Amino acid sequence: MPLALITGISGQDGSYLAEFLLDKGYEVLGLIRHTSHGYHERIRHLLDRIQLVKADLTDFPSLLRIIEKYKPDEVYNLAGQTFVPVSWEQPILTGDVNALGVTRLLEAIRIAHPKARFYQASTSEMFGKVREIPQNENTPFYPRSPYGVSKVYAHWITVNYRESYGLFAVSGILFNHESPRRGRQFVTRKVTYAVARIKYGLQKELRLGNLDAKRDWGYTGDYVRAMWLMLQQDEPEDFVIGTGEAHSVRELCEVAFSYVGLDYRDYVVVDPKFFRPAEVDILLADPSKAKRKLGWEPTVSFEELIHMMVDADLERVRREIETGVPTRV
Ligand code: GDD
Repeated sequence: MPLALITGISGQDGSYLAEFLLDKGYEVLGLIRHTSHGYHERIRHLLDRIQLVKADLTDFPSLLRIIEKYKPDEVYNLAGQTFVPVSWEQPILTGDVNALGVTRLLEAIRIAHPKARFYQASTSEMFGKVREIPQNENTPFYPRSPYGVSKVYAHWITVNYRESYGLFAVSGILFNHESPRRGRQFVTRKVTYAVARIKYGLQKELRLGNLDAKRDWGYTGDYVRAMWLMLQQDEPEDFVIGTGEAHSVRELCEVAFSYVGLDYRDYVVVDPKFFRPAEVDILLADPSKAKRKLGWEPTVSFEELIHMMVDADLERVRREIETGVPTRV
């Protein structure tokens, strides 16, 4: 059985990737940080099929020990500080985890098990103030937040370790990907959860920031398949993964509210509190290289994705009302 190590296994992407790899017959080792609360809601259903080990991307010896001990065949680095607005509040932490954390992990692999194949979770946020539309693997980066800047470093250190030491290290430049397990502070979940609460009469309005921002939103289940495919190639290469379709936050609201028979204009209030110091106006992927070389294509449309998320949130809110217990994801 091949062994995969996933950092960030308790996050949205980690939980989908763990399911995907278990189905493929992998043994899955998940790296988690020590936290005082110990909630792992997204992987609760997998806990008897995966092994969890404690380490931290800011703590090099803990990473080295794990790579030395388990010698994983594949390492997926999905851990990080992933919420863009927080990166202005905690720029140093964001850089330490998202940028230097990748160097620590690559160093551990280089020293203890250089045969491991390494996947770095890179992001369309690196394109930031976009230099061209759509964005492909050759589009120059222009990050617009401490988060984006940290990810540009992580991308290049991955490329550098591949070129300096011959590691099989790849950077997957993934555009926004969502699911019912998306954190509630991200705009898709913020909208779909609010739609469910409004439908059940628990909330009267939804306060949002920039409704004109456009994103290329896809389904996380499709995106973790792309991560795996990148590590199965003969040669390590970087890929852009997205749907090739962009929608605005306003369209997101239209689709989500109208699905339950409501008009978003009656509920959405623009609140400057949610504007960002520097915005990324539009992200749109050109995923043609992934299609050509990986045979990868998305299977869930934007409307299907938002409907899936609203359905899941309607069910969650119904359960919350029934049991009186708030859900955590
Ligand atoms: N979160 C949030 N909350 N975003 C809002 C809101 C709001 O109330 N109102 C408008 N937006 C706009 C943001 O300004 C942004 O332009 C867009 O909605 C998407 O915001 P997020 O869902 O927070 O995602 P993101 O695009 O900043 O970043 C996500 O995608 C990246 C890939 O492009 C994150 O998952 C990153 O970790 C990831 O790298």
